[in-house]
Amino acid sequence: MMEIKKIAVGCDHGAYELKNLLIEHLKSNGYECEDCGTYSPDSVHYPIYAHKVCRLVQCGTCDVGILLCGTGIGMSMAANKHRGIRAALCADTYSARYTRMHNDANVLCLGAMTTGRGLAFDIADAFLNNEFEGGRHAVRIAMFRDFENDCGKEN
Ligand code: RB5
Repeated sequence: MMEIKKIAVGCDHGAYELKNLLIEHLKSNGYECEDCGTYSPDSVHYPIYAHKVCRLVQCGTCDVGILLCGTGIGMSMAANKHRGIRAALCADTYSARYTRMHNDANVLCLGAMTTGRGLAFDIADAFLNNEFEGGRHAVRIAMFRDFENDCGKEN
């Protein structure tokens, strides 16, 4: 069983307030959080924060990441450009649960403009309290790795 202890959290200006509240929530539930910013409501470029969080997950410093922006879409697109990162944008707890169980997602993305605080906390909890089932799902995840190693050229 993979126990999640340390979480990298990042956001842009659109989710600055929710990110801070979420970190408080996570800490009160016993998780260690690496706050990757942004650290003010000033306008920033969200891929920078996606990259910081994904780096910490890629190198194993953090077990999983949580990324927040206005919709969560930009963060999920940027995160999924990183090798080994499986980022899932979730707006409901069922998806959050299953993306851990079936997709072995290692980054959760949330939209601060689309998802209220209480639901965002519940989604994060559902994500963190479930684990990958492996088996047939592992075969499918291995296919992602093949895509990452495919240079995209025809032989
Ligand atoms: C920022 O204005 C906004 O584009 C961003 O927070 C996010 O929604 C991008 O996907």
